[in-house]
Amino acid sequence: MNQVKAVFQGDFDLLENIKISPLSRGYTFSDGIYEVVPFHNNIPIAFDEHIIRFKKSADAMNIVFDESKVIDEMSQLIDMCDGNNGYVYYQISRGVDEIRSHIHNSNIEPEYFGYSLNYDFEDKKFKVLLCEDIRWGRCDIKSTSLLANTLMMNNAALKGCNEIIMHKDGIITEAGASNVFFIIDNTICTPSLNNNILPGITRDMSIKIFRKNNINVFEDNFSIEQLLSASKVWLTSSTKGMAEVTDVYSENHSIESENTLFNKCEDIFRTAFFND
Ligand code: PDD
Repeated sequence: MNQVKAVFQGDFDLLENIKISPLSRGYTFSDGIYEVVPFHNNIPIAFDEHIIRFKKSADAMNIVFDESKVIDEMSQLIDMCDGNNGYVYYQISRGVDEIRSHIHNSNIEPEYFGYSLNYDFEDKKFKVLLCEDIRWGRCDIKSTSLLANTLMMNNAALKGCNEIIMHKDGIITEAGASNVFFIIDNTICTPSLNNNILPGITRDMSIKIFRKNNINVFEDNFSIEQLLSASKVWLTSSTKGMAEVTDVYSENHSIESENTLFNKCEDIFRTAFFND
């Protein structure tokens, strides 16, 4: 992980040289928000949409940030990255307290931190563990506070899985770091957005391009049983793109490998996502 280009409080440096205060609320309380913006051939994918969501998360957290600084620094990080394909991770945290205190000073200044990483958007398949969604009530905010996600995903990793699909009161919400789609009776389904789901940029892009190509997408509440009856399941995110799920564990459930509608969606998605 050497030579990763990063920025912290306006200073560009290698990631390994960046130091933060232990009284950063990002460190003590996970009091921050973030975005992951993929780029292909040095061009950011859905940049505006990521910035709009950043602002929504910031508004929900009462964090005021300098939007043009963030856009400029993210663009510079993309230019500085060794590879042409990758992603920028950018986080804005509340700031540094004088001493740890749940209630922060009203004049606290946000901390800006980002880095870019060379990354191959290769096709990856996922084995997921189905589990109860134990997260807080505002999963629509892209907060750095991801303890429940990491807990559940590491538990899944011990069982040989590389993602999870969560359900709340029997209703499917999303995956640990992605949104969920599936095909039932030749119809594309995805859970409708609410406070328990992050409004994924890749999810939104997928729905729009599928509909533009006259493929119906049905957004609703879906039960565990409906997910398990699907002929194909996939995940979407800025780093996964559109990634097939091969197995849903805990139910010992394998999904059939060939599906023409899925193949068609994958072609449409790749063209839109990578603009090729
Ligand atoms: N995760 N849901 C959750 C909980 C996520 O963490 C993510 C993204 C998504 C998909 O959002 P998008 O399509 O905008 O990437 C849905 C990022 C990539 C991460 O935490 O690394």
